[in-house]
Amino acid sequence: MFGLGGKKKKSQDLVTMDEVPLDGKAVLVRVDFNVAVGENNKVDEDEDYRIEMAMSTIEELQRRRCKVILMTHLGRPSAGEGDFSLGPIHRRLEDLIKEDVRLIDQLTGDTVKAAIDGMEKGSVAMLPNLRADERETAGSDKLAGELADLGDAYVNEAFSVSHRDHTSMSKVPRLMTACAGRRTVEEYEVLSKLKKEPERPYVAIVSGAKVHTKVNLLRKLVKQVDSLCVGGVLANMFLANQGKAPRESFTYEDMQVAKELWEEAGDKIVVPRDLVIGSLDGSATGREVVSVDTALSSAVGVWDVGPVTVKEFLDISRQAKTIMWNGPIGMFEVPAYSEGTRSLAFGLAELESFKVVGGGETVHVLEMYKLRKKFDHVSVGGGAMVAFLEGSPMPGLTPIRKKEESNA
Ligand code: 3PG
Repeated sequence: MFGLGGKKKKSQDLVTMDEVPLDGKAVLVRVDFNVAVGENNKVDEDEDYRIEMAMSTIEELQRRRCKVILMTHLGRPSAGEGDFSLGPIHRRLEDLIKEDVRLIDQLTGDTVKAAIDGMEKGSVAMLPNLRADERETAGSDKLAGELADLGDAYVNEAFSVSHRDHTSMSKVPRLMTACAGRRTVEEYEVLSKLKKEPERPYVAIVSGAKVHTKVNLLRKLVKQVDSLCVGGVLANMFLANQGKAPRESFTYEDMQVAKELWEEAGDKIVVPRDLVIGSLDGSATGREVVSVDTALSSAVGVWDVGPVTVKEFLDISRQAKTIMWNGPIGMFEVPAYSEGTRSLAFGLAELESFKVVGGGETVHVLEMYKLRKKFDHVSVGGGAMVAFLEGSPMPGLTPIRKKEESNA
């Protein structure tokens, strides 16, 4: 039961696939198939939810006799990260669609146009990695024109890239009839409800290793939630501010934020009471559950929260009507330090509340424990979900809105 399973959903804010003429057209569908590919050159099966979640839109367009032209990015080629061929993604897509998908080898131009002209209605093709062309991340009007020239209409089925002001997200849809895909509408509606009218009590559990990626989210959440359970380095920031953890790993600004938030909403913020320390190698030498006071001054690292903390997070969550969880609360990849995240995931899965989960690693945890379907909405967005909830600009959503509006 993750979300609406691609069912049609109305939206007051976004233009939907029911509101623009798509039947029989050549439709450019911006998807986000930026997924992890394993050493065996296959899409990791705990990571392919982004492909699965785009399927209802793709299948609907096929039924509507469209030529479906998928566009995605993979990795960050300009930063030299990863292998950028779409081969493994293409193979996974064909498994899911159960028919041939043509992988076109150029992004724009006459040969691409000819390939699209030759497509049967109801068939699917995929363009090469958008980011192989540097103009994609640069927001190029020229590339936007070349891409828009390939089809009649545009669908944004890439909520998870909608925080990026990239050519295929924010420029192409301005040049064509454009709308949101089924999944994008669902993401928008669920996350908007969290921001505007969550059923209360509303509890958020937020954790993360990088303070700067979540600080603005915390600032927003303290105003919206009834309780905010914090883990990871974010929790250490609050503990350091209270003199219970070393301050050296935090900047002066971090300490100011911790102080401000604590003064504003200390009664809502719940930090760990116990933690798991030990060495990070496979042997987990010295692994021990200790109270916060001793953990944070210990010479070995802190890698997980202890059982008292998990119980407290779950007891608070049990009272909630709405729960949002973003970020594993420990180093779940290392078995000796996965227990906190594992018991939190299983504990939350049993609760009746409306449960929203997001963040690539958090969704990976749910996939690993086969729990995804126990959550009501599993967001495809990592950075995009955080950006949306903290009220940052969403340039990919602006062209598919019914009216101009900020995301604040
Ligand atoms: C993601 O994985 O969060 C999206 O695909 C966006 O990727 P980016 O952070 O490389 O822009």
